[in-house]
Amino acid sequence: METVPERMKWWVEARFGMFIHWGLYSILGRGEWVMHCERIPKGEYALLAKKFRPRRFDARNWVKLAKDAGMRYMVLTTRHHDGFCLWDSEVSDFTSAKTAAKRDFVAEYVEACRRAGMRIGFYYSLLDWRWPAYWNGPEKDPKGWEEFREYVHAQVRELMTKYGKIDILWYDGAWPHSPEAWRSDQLNAMVRSLQPEIIINNRSGLPEDLDTPEQHIQGSSRPWEACMTIDDLWWGYHPGDPNLKSPMQLVRNLVRCVAGNGNFLLNVGPMPDGTIPAAQATRLRAVGRWLRANGESIYGAGSAPFGQAHLGQVTAKGNIAYVHVMFWPGREMCVAGIKNKVLGARMLATGKKLPFEQKRDRLFVRGLPSKAPDPIDTVVAIELEGRPEVAPASFWE
Ligand code: GLC
Repeated sequence: METVPERMKWWVEARFGMFIHWGLYSILGRGEWVMHCERIPKGEYALLAKKFRPRRFDARNWVKLAKDAGMRYMVLTTRHHDGFCLWDSEVSDFTSAKTAAKRDFVAEYVEACRRAGMRIGFYYSLLDWRWPAYWNGPEKDPKGWEEFREYVHAQVRELMTKYGKIDILWYDGAWPHSPEAWRSDQLNAMVRSLQPEIIINNRSGLPEDLDTPEQHIQGSSRPWEACMTIDDLWWGYHPGDPNLKSPMQLVRNLVRCVAGNGNFLLNVGPMPDGTIPAAQATRLRAVGRWLRANGESIYGAGSAPFGQAHLGQVTAKGNIAYVHVMFWPGREMCVAGIKNKVLGARMLATGKKLPFEQKRDRLFVRGLPSKAPDPIDTVVAIELEGRPEVAPASFWE
């Protein structure tokens, strides 16, 4: 695994988190950008707050689902681009605490996470569509911008002081303004002074702790986390999008992240009543079932020096290489390029030992069933002498 600061070790080991987009836009059910896409006037949009009374919201159910899915941290939209705060902000009236719901959902979420030993993340959008200064920018409207920036800084301070220890601050929406305009360096220095252990993403315009490729998996030499929707495009509740990813796609995306030393932050979009749609929950639980049998190859694991594109992906931890067989080869498989002496091979899910033969840089694992035992991803664990090392190819000799 990559070297990371001590305070990030848990995060690298965790590998899998739950992203939650939930707010007033969930009522309309056309995604979290609906205010912008449909150009809903600010005043008209604000009326949604009168209808936001999520009677079935229970943060413990979200946390339970995340646990069942094998997720080790959560990131909740405390405020998205529409400006509606899910906590009792002192610098805004547009909050769930001051409108119909009369509840501080962030407090409830934090409490539920903490009780269950779940790591806590806050998503916070710097931009707020309701502020003209955001649109005008600091050059055109320096005074308005300053006021807006102060509001943003004040909200971040609230989030960093009102709820005890927070594990992740997940910024979004710095665009199109520069980190200088946001004074992101000051902002993050304040955050770190209040929360010395916190992990901060790169979306305040400064690199900070991690890269955040969106809707695609792209490795980098720094810590990174691919965030992805469970359906095609939208993060907020959008029942009109029928294209949900299958458990197979979800597991394989998670594996691809880990094989590239990255994390996977998978999003759910709860309904206006506060519950997570059954179709999303079912898929998450299926991922959890796979993880219960194969988690050893994910948690605390990272990339291996030899890929096996003909079979799928490889992750590694300590002296074990985990071959994630997604393209089943039949009764025998060839794993190429291992320099170490191989000590053993087993099916990860069952523990069944497998016969093998090592011929220079080629390893043959035998005694496999003709069909994939787990079509999602069957993991074969290969125990090595020492940490995995790649052997030079010998096939042209
Ligand atoms: C984008 C979108 C936003 C979503 C986020 C998640 O920045 O604007 O709706 O919250 O990505 O990565």
